[in-house]
Amino acid sequence: MKISVVGTGYVGLVSGTCFAETGIITSCVDIDQEKIEKLNQGIVPIYEPGLEKMIKRNVEKDRLFFTTSIEESLKGSEAVFIAVGTPPDEDGSADLQYVLAVAREIATHMTDYKLIITKSTVPVGTAEKVRAAINEVMATRDDKIPFDVASNPEFLKEGDAIDDFLKPDRIVVGTDSERAEKLMKRLYKPFLLNGHPLLIMDIPSAELTKYAANSMLATKISFMNDIANLCEIVGADVNSVRKGIGSDSRIGNKFIYPGVGYGGSCFPKDVKALIKTGIENNHSLEILKSV
Ligand SMILES: NC(=O)c1ccc[n+]([C@@H]2O[C@H](COP(=O)([O-])OP(=O)(O)OC[C@H]3O[C@@H](n4cnc5c(N)ncnc54)[C@H](O)[C@@H]3O)[C@@H](O)[C@H]2O)c1
Repeated sequence: MKISVVGTGYVGLVSGTCFAETGIITSCVDIDQEKIEKLNQGIVPIYEPGLEKMIKRNVEKDRLFFTTSIEESLKGSEAVFIAVGTPPDEDGSADLQYVLAVAREIATHMTDYKLIITKSTVPVGTAEKVRAAINEVMATRDDKIPFDVASNPEFLKEGDAIDDFLKPDRIVVGTDSERAEKLMKRLYKPFLLNGHPLLIMDIPSAELTKYAANSMLATKISFMNDIANLCEIVGADVNSVRKGIGSDSRIGNKFIYPGVGYGGSCFPKDVKALIKTGIENNHSLEILKSV
């Protein structure tokens, strides 16, 4: 089996390499020529424990390829993951221009059935926008190529990305087609050996799950900082309070350490984007606004 991963950034590079590790022929595409040239020389643009060795092994076994040509990459690929960035737009919503540009490029160059999967973090409704973008291009072509779209948000953490991908807590797949579901189950079979589930759901639910997960984690951190501030005022020790609540299995002891707050490349933009989705749907997410 062969797949393409478009966008060879943090998520695309780790996902592509891990898929190759399971024996799938994986072609990673990026518009950044310098990045692709370096990867082809064995120079890895990010540091992630174990990644460089894994890339080398799979390149040597002819299972992992890097290219700037999406047309070349699509040849023989059944599934195409879109893993480009979704930075915040001026109003906080996710900027989908890169995702939709890739969708149009796929539509321009595909010559046989493709399952097109959004792996980037994208708001509810994006798979439909991807479908519409592909149909728009398809309408200008003489041949009509069948395709499905699916949503497969990524939950890996930077610094632990390989382990998270190879041994995921869960894999979320949003799909509305039997063919797509079968293909996704086949792709992910090797990652399920640790007993964690592959959750098949409708596409909007899969899209929302990623934002809900990051927003929940940001909420835990923010809540604990609020409690820490109160502890200082009333003379309590927040670390004792943390242990006291963390031992309750309903709460859990992760993400309840007081500190400088949350940051990183995903939480701030994803919290803002979910608030924006709420606003667009006349539903004010009051808790998240405080977070
Ligand atoms: N970084 C993380 O820890 C993480 C975790 C889970 C989900 N995500 C989500 O995954 C998505 C990607 O994040 P990332 O951190 O990998 O981004 P990144 O910025 O590291 O990588 C994006 C890559 O896409 C490439 N690109 C842009 N347009 C392209 C095009 N038309 N064709 C081919 N390549 C193109 C860029 O050159 C870049 O290399 C985002 O939606 C992000 O929210 C990120």
